[in-house]
Amino acid sequence: MDKTLAVIGAGTMGSGIAHVSALHGYRVLMIDAQEGAVHRARQAISKRLTREVDKGSMTSLDADAVMERLVEADWPDASQAFMAIEAVLEIVDVKKEVFQRLDSLLPDGAILATNTSSLSITEIATITKRPAYVLGMHFFNPAPVMKLIEIVRGEETGDDAVQQAQAYARSIGKETVVVEKDTPGFVVNRVLMPLFIEAMRIYEEGIASKDDIDKAVKLGLNHPMGPLTLADLTGLDVDLHVMDYMYDEFHDDRFAAPLVLRRLVRAGRLGRKTGKGFYDYD
Ligand code: CAA
Repeated sequence: MDKTLAVIGAGTMGSGIAHVSALHGYRVLMIDAQEGAVHRARQAISKRLTREVDKGSMTSLDADAVMERLVEADWPDASQAFMAIEAVLEIVDVKKEVFQRLDSLLPDGAILATNTSSLSITEIATITKRPAYVLGMHFFNPAPVMKLIEIVRGEETGDDAVQQAQAYARSIGKETVVVEKDTPGFVVNRVLMPLFIEAMRIYEEGIASKDDIDKAVKLGLNHPMGPLTLADLTGLDVDLHVMDYMYDEFHDDRFAAPLVLRRLVRAGRLGRKTGKGFYDYD
């Protein structure tokens, strides 16, 4: 298999995808429109690798090799890639622009994947001349750690693309599920958003403190994190965006964002990435 992969977007998800791919031997072309974004992502990955070296779970030689495989790249370099994974803003027009560009650069038969957490794969694919090779590859945060990738079929996604995406996922140590129908939120966010919403409503109604809501779900359901902590980790702005999108699509109150979430986002408390969300972080 050709081992060069392009990752578009060097935010939390893009850098996590680049990190885990480089760890498993892929040369990753990291592309981001924002000046300095790839540099910052490489620095953050380097810090994590240093921690692994300090813990003794990786040699410094291996860490250096991983960093060498993470290449800051420009758009034309994407022509070397057998697959591109896009992890830019969750705005359909921005994603379409990226896909149009990738379609003109990547070789025929190369896969164009989007890490969207809820948007329509079918709609994104319409801008390309290869809808059979466009699919969703939804990673979870933190991408280097979380085992699952949801592989999402658009209306025209072909079996060959799904199989290639599954092979790539296996090669980086991930498990996959195939989402057969392109529907908002796929499987995981369809389950997760109502959980977040209910936890936030319980908090709004003063039924329990935020610490106790999280503790209840952690210890009562054996989740690794409580829902309010997890909502902070995924990003409150992202959560709100996903809920609003799902609400618009389904017209169903199960996905109606609680006011407390909207208030926090308006106040700039976006969760861990800002150091403030439901909780304060150092
Ligand atoms: N990058 C790389 N490695 C990371 C990491 C990151 N960002 N964060 C944690 N890790 C690694 C640590 O290095 C550590 O590795 P070792 O076991 O080798 O030492 C391991 O993960 C465990 O980390 P910690 O000891 O720091 O902390 P923890 O045991 O509390 O685990 C957690 C942290 C993995 C995040 C865990 O709490 C967890 O699984 N939480 C739930 C996360 C989750 O549900 N994510 C899905 C969110 S939904 C989503 O992403 C979709 C969407 O569209 C909104």
